[in-house]
Amino acid sequence: MTRQLSPGSRLVLASHNPGKLKEIIGLLAPHQMDVVSAGALGLPEPDETEPDFAGNARLKAVAAATASGLPSLADDSGFCVSALNGAPGVVSARWAGPSKDFGAAMRRVHDELGAATDRRAWFISVLALAWPDGHVELFEGRIDGCVVWPPRGLHGFGYDPMFAPEDATETYGEMDAGTKQATSHRARAFAKLLDACFA
Ligand code: IMP
Repeated sequence: MTRQLSPGSRLVLASHNPGKLKEIIGLLAPHQMDVVSAGALGLPEPDETEPDFAGNARLKAVAAATASGLPSLADDSGFCVSALNGAPGVVSARWAGPSKDFGAAMRRVHDELGAATDRRAWFISVLALAWPDGHVELFEGRIDGCVVWPPRGLHGFGYDPMFAPEDATETYGEMDAGTKQATSHRARAFAKLLDACFA
């Protein structure tokens, strides 16, 4: 039996990424949680030192739960390209550099792909829900699709303008938030969390 979150609980969102925060707040909206971000509590952003999504999601959620004394939810996610052996993957944020320039990060993906004919790509999200006593639950979601060049659309964040999910012609950058949430890796991970942890 997974650990349950009681309705109305205070929940820390252990992310400093505005794009992710907006999506997670949207996903939580129907569930009457008392949500506060790690930034609003003045919690620092821990270094992501683990080699995989699950390790980094756990690290961020545990750091926030320990510092706040409250259940905390973290997302670690990334954009993975088949012809680049899954890169940028767990270092997707780092490809944008300290200035968080995702135009440059998308161009790097395009340049490294060169003339490769395999355009398959996917997003992964691992959500970690940690309690102050160190208990952690992990949930993974994935959406497959393909690389689009040039990037299209102004919605979303990160690599959204260069990714079209399977069976769609629009990129995530062109879709409104609700349409992206219908298929996204984060929404899929969240659906598993909801099933397991929401009474
Ligand atoms: P991290 O989880 O903090 O390591 O950052 C993940 C990075 O992956 C983000 O900064 C984005 O660049 C990228 N990423 C994760 N999820 C999405 C998404 O839904 N759309 C676009 N980019 C994403």
